[in-house]
Amino acid sequence: MTPDLRCNRWRTGGNLSNVPEPIYLDPSPEVQHRRIRTFHARHGRVSQTRNAAIDAVLPNRDIALSEYPVVLNLVLGGTRAVIDFGCGMGGLTRELLQHPDTAVLAIDVHTPGIADLAQLAVDNPEVKLALHMGDGIFVLEDFIAPESIDSIYVYFPDPWPKARHQKRRVIQPYFLDIVHQILKPGGTLKIATDIDSYAAHVRTVAATRSDFTFAHNDFEAVMTSYHTRAIRLGHTINTFTLTKI
Ligand SMILES: C[S@@+](CC[C@H](N)C(=O)[O-])C[C@H]1O[C@@H](n2cnc3c(N)ncnc32)[C@H](O)[C@@H]1O
Repeated sequence: MTPDLRCNRWRTGGNLSNVPEPIYLDPSPEVQHRRIRTFHARHGRVSQTRNAAIDAVLPNRDIALSEYPVVLNLVLGGTRAVIDFGCGMGGLTRELLQHPDTAVLAIDVHTPGIADLAQLAVDNPEVKLALHMGDGIFVLEDFIAPESIDSIYVYFPDPWPKARHQKRRVIQPYFLDIVHQILKPGGTLKIATDIDSYAAHVRTVAATRSDFTFAHNDFEAVMTSYHTRAIRLGHTINTFTLTKI
């Protein structure tokens, strides 16, 4: 039997350390990529305070509890809608929220950053912020209205450096198909990476697309926790903008 794409384990992140990989019965690359885990399993315990913030906020702000199709800035207010995909500790999300016209959806599988952003929403109920703790690929595909998003940010995606793991890199043709579907015409996908082989990978995937224009190092990435770490390690940062035609 084909695994259920809507099953909760994939939506919520669940406890992934013991979850076996799904068995792929459909050989098409698109379907396989949809089911491939692009993130690392969670480790460690979550504090009571963080759990409390999540319990208080997610029932009202989890985009995956909405009816399809969601137009973020109609739900949250504002004139622009953006997504911080793989928001980590939320450094970029906070920066994006500085613009009062912008509605932001922050997505990550891991709890600490989502919990801290949930706390931000507890402290500032007026903030134009939606959250999802789970696999963001499903959210982009199943909840976000077509042509409703101004920008999607993928900052410092998990590098998956080993050759046999590179299929887990989130930037893939199938991901770009979903991104293309939800971006407004002229909308942008902004990618930053400090991993040279990932930069080459982005170029390779982007080169196959005639439905986006492509620019390299055309913006400076906001200082997120992974960006700060990359600078400390002396890594070179590459940024890319794919603009929907
Ligand atoms: C290397 S971290 C970068 C975090 C943050 N963007 C930054 O710059 O500090 C990559 C993040 O992407 C998240 N991630 C990877 N694949 C994901 C997916 N399919 N859905 C949601 N989050 C994902 C991981 O959990 C991780 O927190």
